[in-house]
Amino acid sequence: MSTGKAPGKLYLAGEYAVVETGFPAVLTSVNKYVTVTINKSQNGGTIQSKNLNKELIHWNRQGTELVFDDSESQLQYILAAIKFIEKYALERGVKLSYYDLLVTSELDSEDGKKYGLGSSAAVTVAVVKTLGDFYNLNLSAMDIYKISAISHLSVQGNGSLGDIAASAFGGIVAYYSPDRNWIFNMIRNHSITEILSLDWPELQIETLDLPDDLELTVGWTGSPASTSILVDRIALTKAQKVAKYQNFLHASRNNVENLIKGFKTNNSTLIKEMLSKYRTLLADLADFSDVHIETELLEKLCNIAEKLGGSAKTSGAGGGDCGIVLSDKTLDIDELKKEWRKVGITPLTLKIGEVIAHA
Ligand code: PMV
Ligand code: MG
Repeated sequence: MSTGKAPGKLYLAGEYAVVETGFPAVLTSVNKYVTVTINKSQNGGTIQSKNLNKELIHWNRQGTELVFDDSESQLQYILAAIKFIEKYALERGVKLSYYDLLVTSELDSEDGKKYGLGSSAAVTVAVVKTLGDFYNLNLSAMDIYKISAISHLSVQGNGSLGDIAASAFGGIVAYYSPDRNWIFNMIRNHSITEILSLDWPELQIETLDLPDDLELTVGWTGSPASTSILVDRIALTKAQKVAKYQNFLHASRNNVENLIKGFKTNNSTLIKEMLSKYRTLLADLADFSDVHIETELLEKLCNIAEKLGGSAKTSGAGGGDCGIVLSDKTLDIDELKKEWRKVGITPLTLKIGEVIAHA
């Protein structure tokens, strides 16, 4: 039997800009995990996940044909992860076997709603990591990131893969996104072994430490949001409002690099300042692209936290999901949670995830 787990994540800053090659973001992993268990079997295998039975399938019509977006299905990520890790196992001369694969997740609420903590990324990483152990492949965190990134990209083509980095490395990560066109081209005509051995253009992943006097608090709006739809909408703006979009990218890079500097110099004030500032950059982006990033409830979540002295913003694509607060440990967290509950925000009992040690 092999078992392995991968954490969920939250964006601290850099979301949207990080979709562009070489732009930075800071993400934190959280101490909630997707766990994969693999048991060797004979003459056939199974895949089991509670999530699969509860999936909501959104469908549409194209002419008279019914079509659906299968990038929302957890099964696609599991199958893609299996495909690429087994391709690599074969290259390493491993004999493939049959197994029963079980997925369990702490990234959904009791009634099966997603918290927006990057469950598709965590599932992908957990499958890659656990099958990697099952086949004794001795993968490093970077190998796990790369194989998971290839798998995820083959299902959902428009993401930065920052969630994969946070899930593969754990802790807090400074992340510069790789050139995904290069990855697509490489997959077409190179072995996984070769792709793993290369430095990917623009990719950088580095773990950071949170200063001891800072604390992370997370609130959940209770409404799920589709990251890939929001990202597609911003992509439309990009073509139409070139100058404004370029300004946003430039300001984002500055902001995130200062934030990274704050982490590296243990400067809590700078970290809090840069987090709050990213909220204003996102407000600007939302404004000129007409995409609703900070919903009414997320606005309340942030304003309540800021009033009590924290630095707050939406996390990730917004439109629902979670908001985050970084504050001194002196902030009255009980008061914050009480105020949040009054307006319908659920405080999540989350901590920053551990840094993950690999081969
Ligand atoms: O909503 P989330 O947590 O999935 O974050 C999305 C972050 C974006 O930058 C908007 C998209 C991406 O792939 O990086
Ligand atoms: Mg989201």
